[in-house]
Amino acid sequence: MLVTKQPVLRRFWYPVMPLAKLATGPQPFTLLGESIVIWLKSDGTPAAVRDRCCHRTAKLSKGCVVGDHIQCGYHGWEYDARGACVKIPQAPDNAIPSGARVPAYHAQARYGYAWVALDEPLADIFPIPEHDDAAYRCVQQFDERWKTSPLRLMENSFDAAHFAFVHRGTFGQFSKQKPEFFALNETEYGFEAETKLVINNPPASHRITGTTEPTTRRHFRNQWHLPFNRRLGLNYPNGLEHLIVTCATPVDDEHIQVLQWLYRNDAEADCSAAELNKWDAQVIAEDKVILETVDYDAPIDVSRQVERSMPSDQPGLIMRKRLLALLREHGEHEVHRLTVA
Ligand code: FES
Ligand SMILES: [Fe+2]
Repeated sequence: MLVTKQPVLRRFWYPVMPLAKLATGPQPFTLLGESIVIWLKSDGTPAAVRDRCCHRTAKLSKGCVVGDHIQCGYHGWEYDARGACVKIPQAPDNAIPSGARVPAYHAQARYGYAWVALDEPLADIFPIPEHDDAAYRCVQQFDERWKTSPLRLMENSFDAAHFAFVHRGTFGQFSKQKPEFFALNETEYGFEAETKLVINNPPASHRITGTTEPTTRRHFRNQWHLPFNRRLGLNYPNGLEHLIVTCATPVDDEHIQVLQWLYRNDAEADCSAAELNKWDAQVIAEDKVILETVDYDAPIDVSRQVERSMPSDQPGLIMRKRLLALLREHGEHEVHRLTVA
């Protein structure tokens, strides 16, 4: 799926970077092929405009923040969060032309990240009640550029069949190539897939799972939120809850920004953020190696009956069906190999 060919994708919120990264000044980002600059206003909330000064086209991300505005680093023109030029230092007595502006985007802070929607959003950012629940702590994990497509990461995130192969070095049980339970319910936001399976629990994951047993049972409640967000609830028999949020923010047709954070109903002393990140870094590195080998255009031969009949391929098929419906509902689009038989 070539994401830059689908205008409707501009109408969703995407996390682009941790808010903390903006503390040092404006930052560039490419979202759906569009070069944007993000900065923090004086109240700590983010603003985003096109990363191109309307004077002589310098990148605004090379400038600096002045109050609520961004100042171009070339001749000091200043822009507000709506993209209007509000100051031209070389012509202080002249009215600023109304055409002196740059495109502005929707921006907001949520869950510790700056989120951007390029056009009018179709839906709010998906809810994470645990973020405001004192029983849970939040750990920011990864902010990485991968050479793959967001649909590829999403289908991977709901595919229990790859654990035995891709994750055999961490939690995957090579002898258990089918989960003992799988159910999928479509929802307005996408779907929830429930899976129960036994995983390997090597010493390096004992504090992650909260048990020293060589294997343990993992109960997944895994939500897909259109278009490219995954909220993975993991429960263990000891009552430990581990919620992973993974967002595949579309950079361009070949790259995504992987933003991942988690929530746990335990304490830092039970398993430190550094331990959690070390273990999960190994797990997502295993996914990255394989996902960077796949065709980023995310084609799939859905006429193959074997894929239709396998539970592990159902989430990917439903994602294609829902994305295709979304593209059709919003008219202008180029389906481009995103075909469901
Ligand atoms: S190029 Fe930005 S102020 Fe001149
Ligand atoms: Fe994986």
